[in-house]
Amino acid sequence: MNINRLIDLNKLKFDKFYNKILQKKLDNSLLAKAMKYSSMNGGKRIRTFLVSESSKIVNLSTKNAMIISSSIESIHSYSLIHDDLPSMDNDDFRRGKLSTHKKYGEATAILAGDALHDFAFQLLSESLTKISKEKNLQLINYLTLCSGYSGLAGGQSLDLLYENKTLSKKKIIEMYGKKTGKLFEFCFAAPFIIKGETNKRIKFSKSYGSLFGTIFQIMDDLFDEVNSFKEIGKTPGKDKKQGKRTLLSIIGKKNTINFCEKNIYNFIKKNKNEFQKYPILKELLYFNIKRLK
Ligand code: IPE
Ligand code: IPE
Ligand code: MG
Ligand code: MG
Ligand code: MG
Repeated sequence: MNINRLIDLNKLKFDKFYNKILQKKLDNSLLAKAMKYSSMNGGKRIRTFLVSESSKIVNLSTKNAMIISSSIESIHSYSLIHDDLPSMDNDDFRRGKLSTHKKYGEATAILAGDALHDFAFQLLSESLTKISKEKNLQLINYLTLCSGYSGLAGGQSLDLLYENKTLSKKKIIEMYGKKTGKLFEFCFAAPFIIKGETNKRIKFSKSYGSLFGTIFQIMDDLFDEVNSFKEIGKTPGKDKKQGKRTLLSIIGKKNTINFCEKNIYNFIKKNKNEFQKYPILKELLYFNIKRLK
């Protein structure tokens, strides 16, 4: 089946599960409404597709895969709410709708982000089944590392610090690895960790997720410049206006795509066995580039 179709089907399945869990665990308070507004529907749910594919490889149950996905989408939604705040990227739109602070005001948006972040850890600590206490704790600890100062939050801080600065390619890629790569790393590696795969395979799963995430961010920066509001659901052309330091801003479109292709090619060459066993992994890496029309 075509990969876009598989991603769509997975999104349908995930949205149903996630909506149900949010309805069940949250009430109808203002804060809960803002949390649901920012996290339900609208997203591409690409991170959950990585969890699902990784889970198939190591034979993790669908239920546990869905819980992990819900936890990740909660962290992701929190990061988007905060990313859009006036003190960060100052974007009025997200997923084709008003961003959370535009809809509910800044204070509620900040709190909805905080609460979604905590909700992720609530799910991960109380809802996984057939998992030892040790493995569960290991997973929670790993998510703190991927989302905290050494991951997403740390990368977001660099993203802001780097605005309008002269930077090397290396520094930009490092920033991508943290702000976006780490959460994708968690997506793909979490099932391998739960199932107690070998260190070698866990290492592979981490580097696969991280590379996917870095390329995903590189392409997001490109879409910001070349796509329309309708296509991206957020204000286009913002990165340039705000002096965001992106790979695109220092090496241009053609070299940016070449960079992605070269890195994918080298990674596949280095990990031939895994790619031979699971051809979808190759398709999934190239999917990001193919999104460019
Ligand atoms: C946007 O992520 C933020 C980045 C890390 C580039 P997505 O493009 O996955 O956003 P949604 O969830 O589909 O809206
Ligand atoms: C955001 O990157 C990455 C996050 C970790 C939230 P961007 O600032 O480029 O994301 P968009 O373009 O606003 O979705
Ligand atoms: Mg940003
Ligand atoms: Mg932004
Ligand atoms: Mg962007």
